[in-house]
Amino acid sequence: MAEELLISTSTDKTVKYEELIPQIEALIGTESDLIANLANVSSALKYGMDFFWVGFYMVKNDELVLGPFQGPIACTRVRKGKGVCGTAWEKNEVLIVPDVDQFPGHISCSSDSKSEIVVPIIKNNTVVGIIDVDSDQLNSFDLIDSQFLKRLCSSISKIWQ
Ligand code: SME
Repeated sequence: MAEELLISTSTDKTVKYEELIPQIEALIGTESDLIANLANVSSALKYGMDFFWVGFYMVKNDELVLGPFQGPIACTRVRKGKGVCGTAWEKNEVLIVPDVDQFPGHISCSSDSKSEIVVPIIKNNTVVGIIDVDSDQLNSFDLIDSQFLKRLCSSISKIWQ
């Protein structure tokens, strides 16, 4: 496929995801290198959905280590149970944080980040990484984001190695 995304002009989040996710799945289906794929997914989500920060943390030696991302520089390591990312990993569940200042232990990588969603990537019943999306607005994420990002993480888990 052409290495170009068709970015929806819709203001409806569901429509945007419905147009974007199949393009991302097609993109990662043609490449076997995990890092290359995660890099493109980060870019596709940031520019396709107009997010402030999108990136991956990968489980390595009992820590989350920063992987491919798009946006301002971020903290490189997160321990299990720490911050939003480490908590989502420990609990193996999606975390939606409407106001990061209200989340105990939130790790602030950018003072511009106001709300956040973290979705675990699960392979063989184990969390192998997470996707983290930050917004510079409060209350940006809901069950629609959770639903589509979970679908994407399921696709990503199939190419995770
Ligand atoms: N806020 C996250 C850390 C990662 S940055 O947002 C990119 C957390 O609390 O785990």
